[in-house]
Amino acid sequence: MVARTFFIGGNFKMNGSVESIKAIVDGLNAANLDGVNEVVIAPPALYLLDVVRNAKAPVQVAAQNSYSEASGAYTGEIAPQQLHDAGVPWVILGHSERRSLFGDSDKVVADKVKAALAAGLKVIACIGETLEERETGVTNQVCQRQLEAIAAVLEDKDWKDIVVAYEPVWAIGTGKVATVQQAQDVHADTRAWLAKRVSPAVAEATRIIYGGSVNGKNCGELGGAVDIDGFLVGGASLKPEFIEICKTHK
Ligand code: G3P
Repeated sequence: MVARTFFIGGNFKMNGSVESIKAIVDGLNAANLDGVNEVVIAPPALYLLDVVRNAKAPVQVAAQNSYSEASGAYTGEIAPQQLHDAGVPWVILGHSERRSLFGDSDKVVADKVKAALAAGLKVIACIGETLEERETGVTNQVCQRQLEAIAAVLEDKDWKDIVVAYEPVWAIGTGKVATVQQAQDVHADTRAWLAKRVSPAVAEATRIIYGGSVNGKNCGELGGAVDIDGFLVGGASLKPEFIEICKTHK
């Protein structure tokens, strides 16, 4: 049994200001995080340099998106090489909001993941089904289709730099968190799929984290599930309770 380092991501989404994000970083710096968990915060791109300069270990930084090209005429986009140059080690890719609101298809997500790894970044790769897909019983098919697009562009060695985030769309921002069993079932099925598609070793080592209405009250129970290796936290990452979530231990 490989001991997977517990991973807590904070996805600020399009929220915050210079002042409020500094307060979050100052709070995390003063929180005596023991470094046992991997903690990664993702501010809006405008604030990345500030956060890289002010966040102290063990807090790491992620971008919320990056493009699939290294440079060029792509107004408004950010190259993964630019993130690496700025000292940003992580990037969230394939978030359901990128997929539903900004048209990131499975192939676009895969191309972005490949480009991010090539630029030396580590990736939080998001998968997850809609309520309709869950209710029609195709959750695993959707998640595995999304993951297959990514697996198709990776080599086995690349998976050490990937964290998979299962985020049921119906639980994001709704306060309707998945039950521990619901989340554990998808995580276990995803890990079993990785074992067959890639290798048992990659399946065992890859962190599969849960996102969707995680908060200070439900993180402990969720974190106790054998295949839940941490969280990708949205709304609660902007609140003081995020520090308690960062201290969750199995
Ligand atoms: O990326 C994490 C996010 O989608 C979850 O949002 O607000 O439900 O924790 P929230």
